[in-house]
Order: sequence, then C-alpha cells, then structure tokens
Amino acid sequence: MRFFRGRRLRRTESLRNLVRETELRPQDLIHPFFVLEDDDLQIRKPIVSMPGQSQLGLEALVDDVHRAWDQGLQALMLFGIPKHKDERGSQAYARDGIVQQAVARIKEAVPEILIITDVCLCEYTSHGHCGLIVEGMVQNDPTLELLAQTALSHVQAGADMVAPSDMMDGRVQAIRQVLDGEGFVDRPIMSYAVKYASAFYGPFREAAQSAPSFGDRKTYQMDPANGLEGLREAEADAQEGADILMVKPALPYLDVLRSLKDRYALPLAAFHVSGEYALIKAAGEKGWIDERLVALESLTSIKRAGASCIVTYFAREAVEWVQEY
Ligand code: PBG
Ligand code: ZN
Repeated sequence: MRFFRGRRLRRTESLRNLVRETELRPQDLIHPFFVLEDDDLQIRKPIVSMPGQSQLGLEALVDDVHRAWDQGLQALMLFGIPKHKDERGSQAYARDGIVQQAVARIKEAVPEILIITDVCLCEYTSHGHCGLIVEGMVQNDPTLELLAQTALSHVQAGADMVAPSDMMDGRVQAIRQVLDGEGFVDRPIMSYAVKYASAFYGPFREAAQSAPSFGDRKTYQMDPANGLEGLREAEADAQEGADILMVKPALPYLDVLRSLKDRYALPLAAFHVSGEYALIKAAGEKGWIDERLVALESLTSIKRAGASCIVTYFAREAVEWVQEY
C-alpha cells in the first residue's frame, strides 16, 4: 500500500522551516495611528474597544512612531481627529490640518519611516459621511475634488503614499490627476479598492469619532455578499492608476483577496480592521485564546491568500513577534 506521507516533511522543525511557503516579515506590516488635535500635545486617550491603541497628541504620536521605528516598524498609516468638523469636512484638506501637521513632524523626527495617509472626509464632516451631502444623499462627483485636495495637502506635507478609503467612484483618477498636475507624479496611490460595508469597523468609529450621524455607508461601501463586484471595483481602480489595491476587511474576505491575486499583477494590501483586532484582544484578555499566536496565524493567512502588505493594529507588536515565530 502506498499513500501520501505528508508527515515526513513535518518531522523536525528544520524540515518544517525548509518547506514553509509563506513568511511574514516585519516590513510587510503597516501600523495605523490616530492623531488627535488637542492643545495638550502629549495627550494619550486610550481607545476602549481597541486595547493597546490610543488617540495621540502630536508629540505623543512622534514619540510612539519613534519607538515603533526602533522596534523595526517601517510603515504607518495616519488617521486624524480634528477639533472642528463641518458640513464640507474642510479640516481634511486644510494646509494646517492635524494630519498635515503630523506628517510634517514625523518626517522631521523619523525621516525614513514610510508615511501613508488615509484620505477620506468622514472624520472631518459634521454628519460623519465620507462625502458631501445634498438632501440626505452622499454626492459622488462633487466629493471628488475635495478628496483630491485632501490627498494633495497630504503629499505637500510630506506623505509618501495616499490611501483613499471613501469608496466614491472615480476618486483614484481625480487624485492621480491633481497629484500629477502639481508635480507629484512620484507619489503612489494605495486604493481601498474593495471595501465592504462591514460591521467590523465598529471600534474604529469610536477611535476616529467618525460614525455617520444618520443612515449607514451602504450606498458607497460594498455589500459583503458580493465577490464579483470586487473584481469590477479592482478593475476600475487599476485602470484609473492605483499602484496598490487593497481589500478590507481581511480575514472574512480572503477569497476576494485571492481572486484579485490571481488576476492582477499589482501589489495587494489587506486591512486587518479594528473589529478583527478587537475580537482577538478580547478573547486573549479572557484567556480563551493565545493572542499572540492567533494574531500571527491570522496575519500569515492574509499573506498566504495574496497580500504583499497588511495594515494591522498588531503591526507594532508583530514586528517583534515575527522574529521568533
Ligand atoms: C474611513 C475609514 C474607515 C476605516 C478605515 N478608513 C471606517 C469606515 O469606513 O467606516 C476602518 C478601519 C478599521 O476598522 O480599522 N473611511
Ligand atoms: Zn470615510
């Protein structure tokens, strides 16, 4: 009798290492940071539903970024929480907005860390939606110019890459046009191409104080039931000039990530979102799972499915964990 002896290559650790197909590397990980506009630049406001994460004043942010860089983190994503919100989200594209200030300060203090900025209006609008509102509806085309101006203000402040997360149609093209026109042909766009209207964003909306004040985001973010539609979104963003395509959330949508991997030559990113983080943290705190092992297994699976890089709230810790994994 001959049968497949899969266990032969699992007999010792060195054999297992030899045939491992996927490796999680510190440089694959992008850590999100929340910068809070506040008179107290040292302020640290813990985010209750995301243990270990805080809203940070400008100086606290720079300290944390510095520490993370020293630990081996090489890329971050920035989200801003402005003091003032209005109908048009004007602090999103203000020259002296909180993200623009934070970018400049990080560039000065830790010049080599890659700064990616989230481009959206929802943290800056009084209504909490990702676009302009007319008669209760989120307007697509009038929002595009504001998103493009937001992206431009970020790269003018020194951002290395912009990541539009709003899900308006045509925004990659609008941003690319403005960046190119202003001489920033060298700044890539990481597009949240396939972004679902997901309940896993719950903790983030506490963190960024960006929950919509009415309705939901289902007229612009995707229906979790749809996979083929994800391919159409990816196709559109690739055509419009996206340099990296993102799928978000990550674990519940690994099938979508893999189908993009099979079809596009572009690098893929996955966003392991706030709710995915919170689940692991909560069960870990209860002692029901080993937080660290579950986190590393999750991130490895996201890479195996096709992601080149992963935005995750575990990044800061995981850059150290992976060295022993
Ligand atoms: C803003 C934005 C959101 C996230 C990233 N950018 C929230 C949303 O769309 O409601 C979610 C990130 C997370 O949950 O970790 N458009
Ligand atoms: Zn938004």
